[in-house]
Amino acid sequence: MDDTTLNDYPALKAHYRFAREDEALLLQMKPQIESFADEFLEGFYEFIWSFGKTADFLKDQKILTRHRSKIREWYLDLFSGTYDITHFLKLYKIGETHVQLGLPTHYVNAAFNYVRVFTLGRIHQHCMESENLTDKIKAFERILDINLDVLTSSYRQEEMGRFLSLSSIEKTLLRVLKKTSSFFNYLLAGALVIVALFAVGLFGYDVYLLFSGTNSVEQGILTVLGSLLILWAAIELIHQEMSHLRGGSFALEGFITLAIAALIRKILIFSLSPAKTMDVLLYGVLVLCLAISYWLITKKPALQKNKSLQR
Ligand code: HEM
Repeated sequence: MDDTTLNDYPALKAHYRFAREDEALLLQMKPQIESFADEFLEGFYEFIWSFGKTADFLKDQKILTRHRSKIREWYLDLFSGTYDITHFLKLYKIGETHVQLGLPTHYVNAAFNYVRVFTLGRIHQHCMESENLTDKIKAFERILDINLDVLTSSYRQEEMGRFLSLSSIEKTLLRVLKKTSSFFNYLLAGALVIVALFAVGLFGYDVYLLFSGTNSVEQGILTVLGSLLILWAAIELIHQEMSHLRGGSFALEGFITLAIAALIRKILIFSLSPAKTMDVLLYGVLVLCLAISYWLITKKPALQKNKSLQR
């Protein structure tokens, strides 16, 4: 549904079996809803603040206050009893604003879950005695689902629009690139499994050297520890690649962890030989540089999380 087909909002209502009786029931509930609107808002922001990147969107107090008053208005509008073209145009505009801001659609879906759970709980509390409690609940569920449908339709529209505006050559190219990238990702996953198997081999070889007496006990134990560290880092990298294949972002930190593990292994081995002090020092500096890179890469999400918890 886009803003032109919004004119067909009666069909949308019909698809959700949203009838005049539902409108009347929602209006009946409005006084009770108003009585806990503030409590709703408190919970709403507490809920969406746990998303992590919320502060990237609701950047300052001014935007937050404006959003709060808009959410209040939207929430009470759910129980206005009037669901005409104005209601649907408003919803579509909200969706467009969110799309323009790049707000993940998942945030909106999750926020709706809060709205649903909170409101159903309160309807049960306040309308327990009501003889048409079930119908009231159905009416609320319907209007909420209709709202979510329109709010997220802007996202679908944007995705479709982007795809449809491409020429057929661009579309083919996009498909080929997607297939190629997914092929190489699976290839990388396979290669990582081979690396993990080699790490197991290295561990076995180090254990052999320890027990055959080729290495001293001290050196043998440190070498075995080093190869275990590499095995752990390789497994970690396979986990990262698996989540990348499931649609997650590319995790550079996995490769850095592996490099750090390999260098630490070298340090462990060289630390036993006084002649290799310079090498140990150089590897130490390299580990430090990699650790700083790791910290810089992982720092941003952690800082955002702290910021959101403080609010
Ligand atoms: C139940 C879900 C939500 C509803 C009903 C809703 C509603 C609204 C409304 C009514 C507006 C004003 C639109 C306009 O005037 O064009 C708006 C804007 C905005 N929304 Fe939401 N919102 C929801 C979820 C969220 C979430 C989860 C976030 C952030 C994590 C968010 C961030 C924003 C931002 C940053 C703006 C622009 C604010 C401004 O600059 O005025 N919204 N939203």
